[in-house]
Amino acid sequence: MRTIDDLDVSGKRVFVRADLNVPLDGDRITDDGRIRASLPTITTLRERGARVIVAAHLGRPKGTADPAYSLRPVAARLGELLGAEVAFATDTAGESARAVSAGLADGQVALVENLRFEPGETSKDDTERGEFADRLAQLADLYVGDGFGAVHRKHASVYDLPQRLPHAVGGLVLTEVEVLRRLTSAPERPYAVVLGGSKVSDKLGVIDNLLGTADRLLIGGGMVFTFLKAKGHEVGSSLLETDQLDTVREYLDRAEEQGVEIVLPVDVVAAEAFAADAPHDPVDVDAIPADRMGLDIGPKSRELFAAKLADVRTAFWNGPMGVFEMEPYSHGTRALAQALIDSGAFTVVGGGDSAAAVRALGFDEAAFGHISTGGGASLEYLEGKTLPGIDALDD
Ligand code: 3PG
Repeated sequence: MRTIDDLDVSGKRVFVRADLNVPLDGDRITDDGRIRASLPTITTLRERGARVIVAAHLGRPKGTADPAYSLRPVAARLGELLGAEVAFATDTAGESARAVSAGLADGQVALVENLRFEPGETSKDDTERGEFADRLAQLADLYVGDGFGAVHRKHASVYDLPQRLPHAVGGLVLTEVEVLRRLTSAPERPYAVVLGGSKVSDKLGVIDNLLGTADRLLIGGGMVFTFLKAKGHEVGSSLLETDQLDTVREYLDRAEEQGVEIVLPVDVVAAEAFAADAPHDPVDVDAIPADRMGLDIGPKSRELFAAKLADVRTAFWNGPMGVFEMEPYSHGTRALAQALIDSGAFTVVGGGDSAAAVRALGFDEAAFGHISTGGGASLEYLEGKTLPGIDALDD
């Protein structure tokens, strides 16, 4: 794979596909981790005299220009972090984008509007995606793929555009892939994987694959209730994916056959409602009241999980243990992050919510081996899937 060092970028218009899909509260960015992770590649290109056109998506606006998903606040934050003006194009590949791209001087940076305002970006139809990629290609001379969080999407800017321009892989994607490779090829053992988050259906592929590589699988978050139910517990009004129960039972059986230890919580924090001020108590998993929902792992489980992580040498963590955004249900996620740090293992935090949780709970990011910018992308990598955005750069 060519890297940006192999490209002669001076005076050239370089299209950088980044992942700037940050959480927003109105137009306030609540976690700018992905913007900061994108800076090294952009800065290197600027320093080498490139005219940098950054493009990214925000949310899932489904092919229409919805102002709630505008990248304008991201352009402002990118400018602050770079300490340089970032020109903003009010469309993605139209008149404004063409004018902004043509107006860039060497070392200057622009951001175009949300790629997903155009239906061609996410279309399943190759021709429609191709037509949009043709329009994007007119903006630039070269392409750099640096949006790790989106490499698992077969989208026009990720997959089709690099086939139309001389291209290279960006430093962020290179680092992410190198780190994830350490987890898939001969990880130092014991190797534990901690999975949380709300939906078990998002994690089936990765669990399937991990049963062949991990030594221990710790499960928390909303998805755990499908596991608890599969083991015969009543889960009250907690999140439950009934249609996944058979698959989960099959995983539990297979784990036992293959000697993979599956660690489930022994207690949960059960609340009367999905609210920070709802009455809530820790209860054992065999005593969850019918009218309560589990919103975090409980204190005994925090200890159990810490004990199961104490001796591990490699760990991967994806998904919070509870609703960490609400203080009463943040303790499980906090304890888990601390246990991972205390273990001294090479720990990779996989993406999205878990990366945001680490920062929101005030942990030092440097205490972890690597905080990935890609949630779905890192899971699909660990599943062993081909990632379109990497495939397209690999020639
Ligand atoms: C993410 O947030 O994981 C990436 O930006 C990809 O977003 P998507 O799941 O909407 O494709």
